[in-house]
Amino acid sequence: MSYPRLPALTRRTFLASAAALSAGAMLPPQSNARAAGLREFRLRAGPGRAQIAPEPYGDTAVWCYGGRLPGPEIRVRQGERLRIAVENALDEETTVHWHGLRVPNAMDGVPHLTQAPIAPGETFTYEFDAVDAGTFWYHPHQRSFEQVGRGLYGPLIVEEADPVRVDRDLTWVLSDWRLTETAEMRDDFGNRHDMMHNGRVGNTVTINGRVPDIFPVRKGERIRLRLINAANARIFGLDFGSHGPVVIALDGQPVEPHAPQDGLVVLGPAMRADIILDMTADAGSRVSVTDRFYKDLEYRLVDLAYDDRPLRETAPDWPVALPPNPLLEPDLISAARHKVTFNGGMMGAMVMQEMGGSMGEGSSGAMGGMMGNMGAMVDMMHSGGIWFINGVAAEGHVMDPMLTLARDKSHVIAMTNATAWHHPIHLHGHSFRVISRNGEPTPHREWQDTVLMSPRERIEIAFVADNPGDWMLHCHILEHQAAGMMGVFRVA
Ligand code: C2O
Ligand code: CU
Repeated sequence: MSYPRLPALTRRTFLASAAALSAGAMLPPQSNARAAGLREFRLRAGPGRAQIAPEPYGDTAVWCYGGRLPGPEIRVRQGERLRIAVENALDEETTVHWHGLRVPNAMDGVPHLTQAPIAPGETFTYEFDAVDAGTFWYHPHQRSFEQVGRGLYGPLIVEEADPVRVDRDLTWVLSDWRLTETAEMRDDFGNRHDMMHNGRVGNTVTINGRVPDIFPVRKGERIRLRLINAANARIFGLDFGSHGPVVIALDGQPVEPHAPQDGLVVLGPAMRADIILDMTADAGSRVSVTDRFYKDLEYRLVDLAYDDRPLRETAPDWPVALPPNPLLEPDLISAARHKVTFNGGMMGAMVMQEMGGSMGEGSSGAMGGMMGNMGAMVDMMHSGGIWFINGVAAEGHVMDPMLTLARDKSHVIAMTNATAWHHPIHLHGHSFRVISRNGEPTPHREWQDTVLMSPRERIEIAFVADNPGDWMLHCHILEHQAAGMMGVFRVA
């Protein structure tokens, strides 16, 4: 379940490029203080083939990075600088977004907003510092509902200087696929039904690009499992059977170690969780990991298969808390307050009902008036969008900012999901604390970059807007994003 790391360039190459980097900088030319931290990678986005379904099915045509599914794991140390040359071998434009990494705006990979898309045959080089340690991932931001859906994604791991002690540190990139009976990719990407409902949920679930069978473990072993949901639309709710997973990070950011609520590790699209899993069952036994998120659609994801020989008799008692990342603490007293409302989904009476009543209260300023106005609502629906943020359906990545946040100030955004659907809401360029759900303070005030909103749920998030630029805010169900559920906020 692990795959080789991307080969970093040789020391000779990096010294040469490091010298170029530090020319004119304050460091003396021979100093490696900064140069030692530069890591160079190449990623090639292009068509490939992958054995998604188990034999005797054949392989499946995909789009992927480096000819592999998932793309190669980029793994660096916190504080290092990454330089990643992305070559586009697809027949269409692409970009790469470094999901969850707090990068400068120009490196954020949003087509037309932060960069020109990378044309077929061209290369674009991204460069940024790994400010935060944690579990991140990369994917295109151009027609993501198809590019990600066909397999363009990969993990990006930033190691702590002093990581928690474990026997194995593993990454599971979760995804799903809509395959035909002969294991071909169904190419109904972006169809209207998916856009209007819960997105492109597939019929074949994979871990690291393959339908898993068993996952070998040993009694007494401690694993740090980095879970990444790279699916377009599927939400996972993982039950590890008799094991008691401890969540130590969410969306890459350390959290007070805790047992997941109801024993389920829930991951909306784009979300990550780092869990500590102690292998506490008997040697020689098997324990299933079950995905229970959708009622009546539970299935066995994989079996943890215990070796006959234990590694140790009892779980180790090593500490599991991670060191904090350098995030600025928002000041809730002085914070500016903003409101964002998500609407849409099914057309017609149901939406009208949602909007007509109390659901209008979450909308801000002038939009508040509009929400109560049925005439305006009808216009909104006839505009062609399916999903709306504060009454606007995005048609591309370039639009007027829906919010302008004063730079270096604290902000609280009260978000209302006025729909009957789940939405994983992602903000670019920042991590935020989730401070309340439906008016109740959250027990862990977790830092996230993507927060899963249940139907009708109200959530408050808080952060310091310390990263200047125009940033996306969108639903990470990629069909919802494509059907309008996307906006821009400006930090200035
Ligand atoms: Cu994972 Cu706007 O993206
Ligand atoms: Cu959504």
